[in-house]
Amino acid sequence: MVYFKGLLAGYWLFSAIHVSVFANEGATLIANIDDPEAIDAQTTCPGYKASNIKNTDSTFEATLSLAGYSCNVYGTDVDSLDFIVEYLQEDLAKVSITPTYLDSSNDSWFILPDYLVPPTKANKLNFKRSYVTQDENQITFGDAFSIEWSNEPSFQFKLKRVSNQDVIFDTFNSVLVFENQFIEFVTALPADYNIYGLGEHNLQSRLLENLTLTLYATDIPVPINSNLYGSHPFYLDTRYFELDDDGNHIPVARDRADQSKNYVSYSHGVFFRNTHGQEILTHTQRLTWRSLGGSIDLTFYLGPSQEEVTKSYQVNTVGLPAMQQYFTFGYHQCRFGYHDWSTMDDLVSNFEKAEIPLENVWNDIDYMKKFRDFTNDPVNFGYGEGKDFLNKLHDGGRHYIPIVDAAIYFPNPHDENDKYDTYTRGAADDVFLKNPDGSLYIGTVWPGNAVFPDWHSPKTGAFWANELVTWHEEIVFDGIWIDMNEPASFCVGSCGSHDRDMDHLRSPSTLLRGQSDGLQNYFGGSDPTNMTDSASEESAIGPSASSAFFLRSTPTPGVRNVNYPPYVINNVQGGHDLAAHTVSPNATHFDGIQEYDVHNIYGYQLLNATYYGLLEVNSAKRPFIIGRGTFAGSGKWAGHWGGDNWSTWANMFFSIPHALSFSLFGIPMFGVDTCGFNGNTNEELCSRWMQLSAFFPFYRNHNNINAVSQEPYRWASVTDASKTAMKIRYAILPYFYTLFHLAHTTGSTVMRALAWEFPNDPSLAGIDAQFLLGPSIMIIPVLEPQVDHVCAVFPGIQQGEVWYDWYNQTAISAQPGINTTISAPLGHIPVYLRGGSIIPTQEPALTVRDARNSEWSLIAALSSNGTASGQVYLDDGQSVNPESTLDVLFEATQHRFTISPQGDWKESNKLANITILGATLPVASAMNGYGVSVKADGRDLPPVSAIYDPNSHILYITKLQSMTPDGAFRKGIVLEW
Ligand code: NOJ
Repeated sequence: MVYFKGLLAGYWLFSAIHVSVFANEGATLIANIDDPEAIDAQTTCPGYKASNIKNTDSTFEATLSLAGYSCNVYGTDVDSLDFIVEYLQEDLAKVSITPTYLDSSNDSWFILPDYLVPPTKANKLNFKRSYVTQDENQITFGDAFSIEWSNEPSFQFKLKRVSNQDVIFDTFNSVLVFENQFIEFVTALPADYNIYGLGEHNLQSRLLENLTLTLYATDIPVPINSNLYGSHPFYLDTRYFELDDDGNHIPVARDRADQSKNYVSYSHGVFFRNTHGQEILTHTQRLTWRSLGGSIDLTFYLGPSQEEVTKSYQVNTVGLPAMQQYFTFGYHQCRFGYHDWSTMDDLVSNFEKAEIPLENVWNDIDYMKKFRDFTNDPVNFGYGEGKDFLNKLHDGGRHYIPIVDAAIYFPNPHDENDKYDTYTRGAADDVFLKNPDGSLYIGTVWPGNAVFPDWHSPKTGAFWANELVTWHEEIVFDGIWIDMNEPASFCVGSCGSHDRDMDHLRSPSTLLRGQSDGLQNYFGGSDPTNMTDSASEESAIGPSASSAFFLRSTPTPGVRNVNYPPYVINNVQGGHDLAAHTVSPNATHFDGIQEYDVHNIYGYQLLNATYYGLLEVNSAKRPFIIGRGTFAGSGKWAGHWGGDNWSTWANMFFSIPHALSFSLFGIPMFGVDTCGFNGNTNEELCSRWMQLSAFFPFYRNHNNINAVSQEPYRWASVTDASKTAMKIRYAILPYFYTLFHLAHTTGSTVMRALAWEFPNDPSLAGIDAQFLLGPSIMIIPVLEPQVDHVCAVFPGIQQGEVWYDWYNQTAISAQPGINTTISAPLGHIPVYLRGGSIIPTQEPALTVRDARNSEWSLIAALSSNGTASGQVYLDDGQSVNPESTLDVLFEATQHRFTISPQGDWKESNKLANITILGATLPVASAMNGYGVSVKADGRDLPPVSAIYDPNSHILYITKLQSMTPDGAFRKGIVLEW
C-alpha cells in the first residue's frame, strides 16, 4: 500500500491509493487487463439468479439477485438488479439491467439521466405487438426476437433473431458482474466474426481479435488502437450464410467465399448507452464489455442489412445527422500558424493564382488574443482589418471558419488588470465546473489557467450562445471549429486551484506570449501530449500522469473512488490516469454529477451548445460545426475531423476506416487533416492525399505549426493532382448534397464500405482500402509510395455489375473476386461509376457559388440490363427550414431518359448535356454519321445535339439548353432516341 497526498482546491484530500508495483516497473505502463495479478471477474464473481419472472406481449422482466458472496472485485457488488427486455418494434429491442434500489442519498451508482443522453425510443407509429409464445425459459416476441434464459450455473441469456434462429447476443458460459465502479458482461460471437464500430480508434475497419478497445475521450495524436477523442459504444455485426437445400443457414467464413455462390448476410447492431470509461475486449468467438459504472442499457437493431441497422440506430437512438450548407462541401484550407490577416489574404491570392478551388479559410488559435476564446489579437488579427478581409472573402464567394476551444481563460485574481470579459460573464452566471468542495475547477490549456463550461448548468447554453453572438458582431464567421473538447487540460487535476500564480510555470502559454514562435518551441517537434509539466508537479498535486505506475484503489463498500477507480482501463494517457490530460473525474457539475460519470459526453454537450449558439447568431442558417470530441449522437449537430494525425502513408490509409466507422456512428461529415498534421509531409504523399480526401465529405488540409507548409500550391505536382480530383469533386457537388440530404432525412450513409453495398459477398467484409461514395461512385486510392498502379476488387461482377472508368467513361473489364491491377501514376486517382446509376453534375469552378451557378449535366451509366436511375435534391443550400425544395428522379434505358421533378424550388441553371454510358444503339438508328435523332417530349431535337460513339458505347446528347429555357427540372421531360 502506498498513500499519495492529493491537494485539491485549497484543501487536502487524503485518499488511499493502492499502487501495484510490478517486476517490470518503469518499463511498461500496465493496465489491469495485462496485469498478471489482476483478478479475473469471470472466475471470481458469483453472477446472479433470476426470480420474479414476468412478461407481457412486449416485455420480459426478472429480478436478479447475487448468486453467492459478493466478489467486490473492482467495486461494490449490487445485490439486486432489475432485468428488463423490451420489444420496441419489429427490428428493435432493449435490454436494461439496473440496480433495484436506487438510493439517492448515496453516490454509489450512477444512472444516466435521459436529459443527458436520450434513450432509444421506437419511432414506428403503427407497430403492433404481435403474438408472444412462451416455452420453458424462452419467450418469443412476434417474428423478431426470442429470449432464452437460464439460472444454471448463474443467470445468462440469449437473444435470437427468429427468422434464421441466429443467436445475436449470448451471455451463456459467462457471469454478469455488476458493481458500482465496474460492470462486465460477455457475449459469444461466431467464429471469424465481422464486427465494426466501437470507436473512436485508429484501426482497420473490421475489428480483429485480441484487441482492447478503450473508450475514454482524450486528446492524443492518434496512435494505433488507443482511445481517442470520441466515444461510440456501438457495433455492427455482419454474418454471412449459405443456404442449404433445406433452407438452413450455414455460416460462411470470409476466406471460404466462392464468387459463384449466392450467399446471404444478416447484420445487427448493438448500442451500449453508457457514458463511463469503457473497454471492449475482442477474443476468439467472444467479446467482453467493461464499464467503470452506470447501468447496462443495450439496444439491439435487427437490420437485417447494414443500411437498416444504421438507419434504425440513428432514427430510434442517436438522431439523424445535421444537414450541411452547400458551401461546406467545397475545399477547406487550414493550418496552425497563419499568423495575421495579411497571411490569410496572401493565402487566398495564392489559391487564385494557382487556380485551385478554395471555399473556406480557417484560423487556428493564432488569431486569438493570448489564446482566449472569443477574442482577436489586436495587433495581428485586429477587428478593423478583419472586417476588410472578411468582406473581400465573402464577396469572392468564400467563407471563414475560426477555432474555438473548450476551456475559458481564468484571469489571475491577483492582477486587477487581468480582465477577460468572457470569464467575467461566465463567472457571474456561475457556469463553470467545480471541485468537490464547490470551488472552481481550474486546469491549464493554451491560455494558461482555464475553467471549463459546465453544460449541466441551466445557464451555460445561453452563456455560450451570447459569446458567439457577441463575437460574431466583430468577426463574421461562417461556422465554428470546436477543439480540445474532450476536454483537454495540460495539467493533472485542478492545478490552478491551489496557487493561481503558478500559471506561468504550468502553462505552455508563457511560451506562447510571442504567439506562433513560442508555440513552435512548445511543440519543438515533439508531440503535444508531453506531460513533463505535470510530472514535475507530482509531489505538489498528487499522482502524476507520467508515473510509471498505474493507479488504482481498493474497493470500499458503498464508496466510490472516482479519481483512481479499482479497475484501470487502458487509457492511453500517462499511467492510465483518468485525470491525465483532461479534467479530473472528481470535477463536479451543477447537478452534483461527477465528471467521472459523464466524461465521455463533455464534447458532445459542447457541440450541442455550439449548435444552438450558432442558431442564435443566425436562426435561418444551418450551423456548420466541425468538432473533435464526439459521442453517440453528436452528428445531429456537428461533423468531425480525425484529429492530430501524422504525415504518413499509414495515417492516410487509416483515414478510410476512420471515416467508415463515423458513417456507422451517424456522423457523415467527416474528414482528416489532409497531407497530415504532425510531422512534415512530402510532395508524393500530399499529392495522393489531396486526391483521396477530395472524395471525403469534409475536405480540409490542416497542418501543425512546426511542419513544412503543405498548401496544394506548394508543389506543381500537388497543384495538378489536387485540381484533377477537385474537378470531379466540384462537378459532383449536387451528388454530395443529395447524399447528405438523404443521410439527414433517412439515416443513410455517405461514405460506404463495399460490404454494405454488396452484402452477399463475404470476401468484401474486410475491405477498407477502397470505398464508395453513396451507392454509385467507387474510389480506389493509391495508399503507398513509389507505385504507379493499384490493385482493387470490382464488386458484383459475377452478378453482372458494370463499372465505368470516370475518366474515359467506358466499362472496365475485371474478373470476379480477384484483384485487378489499375494504372495509377502520380496525379491520377482511379474513380469508377457503378452501372445502373445516374449522377447529376454541374461545372467545376473555383468556388462552390460559381459551380452551383453553372449548367447541368447528367451522366447515366447503364447497368448490364440497360437501365439506370438517380436523383438530385435541391434547395437554397443554407436554410434550416428551406421554403422550397425540389426532388428530381432520373431514369434511363437504352432508348429513353426521363426527368421527373417534384417540389417548388425553381432551379435557374439550364440543363446542357446528358451522357449515356454503355449505350448499345443499332448502327441503323444512326443518322448523319454518328448523329442520333432524339425527340424531347415527342419533338425532334436538332440532329447535331446527339452523337453516338459505337466504340466507347457512349451517347452524348448536348445543347439541351433550349429545352429548359427557365432552368433545369422545371417540369418532367422524356427524351427518346
Ligand atoms: C489540437 C487540434 O487537434 C489541432 O488541429 C490544432 O491545430 C491544435 N489543437 C492547436 O489549436
